Amino acid sequence: MLKQTKIVGLGHYVPETVVTNHDLEKMMDTSDEWIQERTGIKERRWFTYGKETVASMGTEAAKKALDQAGLTPDDVDFIILATLSPDYFFPGSGVLVQEKLGIKEVGALDVRNQCSGFLYALSIGDQFIKTGMYKTVLVIGSEIHSHGLDKTTKGRGVTVIFGDGAGAAVLQATDESDKGILSTHLHSQGKYAKELVVIGPGNMTPVRLDASNAEDPTIMAPIMNGGTVFKHAVTRFQEVIYEALEANSMAKEDISLLIPHQANLRITQFIQKKMELGNDRVYSNIQRYGNTTAASIPIAMSEAYQEGRIKDGDLVCLAAFGSGFTWASALIRW
Ligand SMILES: CC(C)(COP(=O)(O)OP(=O)(O)OC[C@H]1O[C@@H](n2cnc3c(N)ncnc32)[C@H](O)[C@@H]1OP(=O)(O)O)[C@@H](O)C(=O)NCCC(=O)NCCS
Repeated sequence: MLKQTKIVGLGHYVPETVVTNHDLEKMMDTSDEWIQERTGIKERRWFTYGKETVASMGTEAAKKALDQAGLTPDDVDFIILATLSPDYFFPGSGVLVQEKLGIKEVGALDVRNQCSGFLYALSIGDQFIKTGMYKTVLVIGSEIHSHGLDKTTKGRGVTVIFGDGAGAAVLQATDESDKGILSTHLHSQGKYAKELVVIGPGNMTPVRLDASNAEDPTIMAPIMNGGTVFKHAVTRFQEVIYEALEANSMAKEDISLLIPHQANLRITQFIQKKMELGNDRVYSNIQRYGNTTAASIPIAMSEAYQEGRIKDGDLVCLAAFGSGFTWASALIRW
C-alpha cells in the first residue's frame, strides 16, 4: 500500500535587512501609497552580498525544519530545492545545501518553476515518500531577488513586488492513512512564458553570455506584464484550489487555512472574497516580505505554524500561480 506523506518540520530564514517602501522612494519614482494600494506590501528583506546566498538561506531554513522535526542532516535521504535565482548558472543550488548541511551523498534536485516551485518540489517529494523510495525528504524554496532587480524607475513595476528569503519543509511517511498530503495538482501553459520572464543569460539572444547583456536591464532583470499576470492568477488560483477540493470530495467550507503563494495582497483578497473565506482562514504575510516566489509558501507555512494557525487535524490548502505560466495546489490534512 502507498504511504501518506506528512510535513514533520518547518523552518524559514529571512535576511536581516529590511527595505521599506520609503527606502524604495529614494531609489526610484514610486510611493509607499502606490505600492501598498496595488500590492499590500509595506516592506521586504534584501540579502547582503557576501553574507547570504540562496544555498546559505536554504540551509538555515532547513536546519530549523530539521530541528523542529527532531531530525539531523544525517536523516535526509533526498534534497529538492526550488529557486529561480540560483547561486550559479549551473550547478543547481541543491548540491550546495547538501555540502553546507554536511548531508551524506544523497541526491539533490533543483526545481525551476518560479512561484509554483515549492509546490512542484513538494509534489515530487510526496511521490518519493509515497512509493517508499525515501524515508525523509528535505524540500526548500529559497530566493534572492534583490540582486537581479532593476532598481531604477524603469524597473519599478516589478522591483517593488519582490523580496528575498527561504523556507523549508521536512517530509516523512506517516502510518495515519487519513493524514498528510492528500493530493497535489500541477499545471503549466508555456504560451504565456514571456509575460513574466528573465531573458538572459539564455539562448534567445544572439550571444548567451554577452557582457553588454549585463548593461541592459531588459535582458537581465525580470519583465512582467502585470495586468495579464493578475488576470490569469485570479482565475487559476481558484481553479486549482477547487480541483484539489473536488479530487478529495471536499468543499471550500472544509478548508481550515488557505496559504496562497504570496504574489500580491490584491490577488489573495480577490480569491478570498470570491471563495467567501474569512480572514481567519487565509494566511498573508506579503506585507512584511513582498513576493519571495518559491520561498513564499514555505515561509508563510512556517510562520502560520509558529503562530498556532495550523493545528493537528486542520485541512490546509496551498496554492500558487506564477511565471511559466505555472500553477499548482496541494491539500494537506495536518
Ligand atoms: C504590477 C501591478 C501591481 C501594477 O498595477 P496596475 O494597477 O496594473 O498598474 P499599471 O501597470 O497599469 O500601471 C499604472 C501606472 O502606475 C505606474 N507604476 C508602475 N509601477 C509603479 C510603481 N512602483 N510606483 C509608482 N507608479 C508605478 C505605471 O507606470 C503606470 O503609469 P501610467 O499610467 O502613467 O502609465 C499589477 O498589475 C499586479 O499586481 N499584477 C500582478 C503581479 C503579480 O502578482 N506578480 C507576481 C505573480 S507571481
